[in-house]
Amino acid sequence: MSQIKREPVKFAYWVPNVSGGLVISNIEQRTSWDIDYNRKLAQIAEANGFDYALSQIRFTAGYGADNQHESVSFSHALLAATTKLKVIAALLPGPWNPALAAKQIATINHLTNGRVAVNIVSGWFRGEFAAIGEHWLDHDERYRRSEEFIRALRGIWTEDSFTFKGDFYRFNEYSMKPKPIDPLPEIFQGGSSRAARDMAARVSDWYFTNGNTPAEIRKQVDDIRAKAVANGHSVKIGVNAFAIARDTEAEARTVLDEIIAKANPEAVQGFADQVKNAGKASPEGEGNWAKSSFEDLVQYNDGFRSNLIGTPEQIAERVIDLKNAGADLILLGFLHFQEEVEFFGKHVIPLVRKLEEAETVTAVAAE
Ligand SMILES: Cc1cc2nc3c(=O)[nH]c(=O)nc-3n(C[C@H](O)[C@H](O)[C@H](O)COP(=O)(O)O)c2cc1C
Repeated sequence: MSQIKREPVKFAYWVPNVSGGLVISNIEQRTSWDIDYNRKLAQIAEANGFDYALSQIRFTAGYGADNQHESVSFSHALLAATTKLKVIAALLPGPWNPALAAKQIATINHLTNGRVAVNIVSGWFRGEFAAIGEHWLDHDERYRRSEEFIRALRGIWTEDSFTFKGDFYRFNEYSMKPKPIDPLPEIFQGGSSRAARDMAARVSDWYFTNGNTPAEIRKQVDDIRAKAVANGHSVKIGVNAFAIARDTEAEARTVLDEIIAKANPEAVQGFADQVKNAGKASPEGEGNWAKSSFEDLVQYNDGFRSNLIGTPEQIAERVIDLKNAGADLILLGFLHFQEEVEFFGKHVIPLVRKLEEAETVTAVAAE
């Protein structure tokens, strides 16, 4: 019973702070990466039931994402334009060190009444590291560094005279002031390799994974939660999905077909070559993009696999399936962000809430 009486599933959207939208396709996208578009989008999202926005960090990219605004500063601008929305800023250990990150995020936490969160990304894009002169670490070493980064962030935010002797970072009786106000910024991370899961089970508040079927999500959730319990830790799960909600399923499928038919093959192939440095490069050969097909890669976090494509009723039911597989949050990408975030908030989220309510009532009646 405890499973179906869980908190309402949370919704987040990807901030389009990089050009080209969330699909590597020449299909028309009424989405812009500029700040005016994004401020309005954030306001639409918070007025329509979205809890979080996730911004992306890229220093350079092919696959149509040629222009990118920096994640932390962009997130702050969105927080300044909203009142309830939580915005997750991405930090890449390497270019960022934890001393700067802890200070920067603590200040934004004060300026925004505690609404900033962070997503610690571990790096998969070797070409980007080479371009900015960052040393490239092997797959699992990247996660060892990320874990130290997270431990250092949390230590700086919560302790005085913080001392830490790691292989990547060192702190000596450091007392950062002011500390963040409550709630402490939540720490998200992405990835699905063994190293990513193990890090989540030790230190992260939230684990973000690429799109997948409920059965595959369930396997990851069971694996992570079992390890987290053994570590005395608890972690929540966010699942990526690309949503296409239309009046009929046929209309939604036609949009998906058009996205794939108009995919840019060179850009998708370039992306496919680079993501071999993620899951496939892990010792076990598993992880993000290790099994992605060409069609999957057109949405660059396997978002079609979650199958939130159809009518609002179908999508709401599939959100519940993902929730029952262990998802606490659904992270959403769209083709035309402003219109579709509003449509999703008005037509899908209320149906999800009704289904959640019905499940709770059934559960209580069964007790
Ligand atoms: C939801 C989500 C968001 C991510 N955001 C970024 C990002 O903004 N920038 C980035 O370089 N990597 C990003 N990543 C990549 C991860 O941090 C990680 O490097 C990648 O998923 C490798 O996965 P693996 O552990 O399975 O090899 C993201 C991953 C996920 C699942």
